[in-house]
Amino acid sequence: MNGNDNAFGIRGFLVDAPEFGGLRGSRNGAIIVENGRILAVGDYDNLRRLPQPHPVNWIDRGAVAIFPGLIDCHTHLPQYSAVARGESELLPWLRQNIFPVERDFTGPKAREEAPQFFHALAQNGTTTAMVYAAIYEDSCEIGFEAAKESGLRVILGKMMMDVGSYGQLQPKKVLSVSLLESERLCRKWHRSEDGRLEYAFSPRFAVTCSEKMMRSAAELAARFEAYLQTHLAENREEIEKVHHLFMSARDYTHVYETCGMLTPRTVLGHCIHLNPREIAAIAAAQSSVAHCPSSNLFLGSGLIKLDQLLKAGIAVGLGSDVAAGPELNMWQVMRAAIEVQKARSAYEPNLRPIRVSEAFYLGTQGGARALGKAKIIGTLDAGKEADFVVVDLAALLPYQKDRHSLNALSPEDVLALCIYRGGPHSTLETYVRGRCVYRAERIA
Ligand code: GUN
Ligand code: ZN
Repeated sequence: MNGNDNAFGIRGFLVDAPEFGGLRGSRNGAIIVENGRILAVGDYDNLRRLPQPHPVNWIDRGAVAIFPGLIDCHTHLPQYSAVARGESELLPWLRQNIFPVERDFTGPKAREEAPQFFHALAQNGTTTAMVYAAIYEDSCEIGFEAAKESGLRVILGKMMMDVGSYGQLQPKKVLSVSLLESERLCRKWHRSEDGRLEYAFSPRFAVTCSEKMMRSAAELAARFEAYLQTHLAENREEIEKVHHLFMSARDYTHVYETCGMLTPRTVLGHCIHLNPREIAAIAAAQSSVAHCPSSNLFLGSGLIKLDQLLKAGIAVGLGSDVAAGPELNMWQVMRAAIEVQKARSAYEPNLRPIRVSEAFYLGTQGGARALGKAKIIGTLDAGKEADFVVVDLAALLPYQKDRHSLNALSPEDVLALCIYRGGPHSTLETYVRGRCVYRAERIA
């Protein structure tokens, strides 16, 4: 594994969530990293005192919290330049605001933007992201090159669509070219960089994909043991459209089932308007859901029935869904996840909204589970790969003179500060496999 071969230790307030609702915190904590993995976790004074197999370089950045790296299970590389644009719902928003920027995401423009996109992810404390490129092979190739350089853990795929697409190809050629290019990209990049980069076959959604395209994408994903990502049941008009396009399907989810797209390596974006049969089908297939609450609010798509998905045993992670989500900032996505359930609970008296610890779980270990990576990332456990983020707590306080009050914070307080006020300004350092992939200028 590429990692920092020298052992180093870092001191801070450790917070992680191994389970939904279960929070661990260690105020004067520390982790020791060696060869890209977490070698030891515990109390700073103990770790400092105990003899270690190798000399440890200690880093002490003062009043910081250390969290597992944030995991973004659904975002769109070519869309970042279009954030906060448009006021319509999904389908007109895609036509008016998104397809035009995706159409331009090729050549020099893609080369200029892709490195900045991954830098912004790292600056936001995100260590793993599952990402869509545009429909062009070069948009994905350039994306992978930039992801490789960034040091982040990235699952990426070329957007596939053969109905109402924005490309220049003759309609007859779109399907075969898309399959060929996707396969070529997968062969080149899937599991490269010692598994840090992976491929996701990415049929956009049933509105813009023929049955043949969806079946073929599923077959390719199975053949290469790669991921599959798509959008499902995000918006009422979209669902209506799918119903008319696939009249024999029982519901939207059934379209994907028929095409073999529901697999344990499938990540379904949104999943807001699902009936109980669809929820059961997704759970039975062990497919995962990327919940994108800030996007769902921006487009007015709806309020997800998170309790029902979790009760069915579905692995749920969070997605920024840029550009429908206005930020890559996963703290803000966690905040939106909480506020969506609070809004629901105002009308459903028996519904308990989710807590900060639960939203944090979804953005870390829940996301890791949704991506099949719960054993390697998601918490600060010894043996896991060392993906973590160091947050400057003082940057989150309203008054700097209150710095001493940091000593009295509980793990929940620390988390709440991050979820309600955190972002790129409070990220000090981001590490993937023990390698620093972002460092704030003030400590560089
Ligand atoms: N459904 C199909 N494509 C998209 C997309 O790019 N963004 C969102 N939010 N939903 C989609
Ligand atoms: Zn999306």
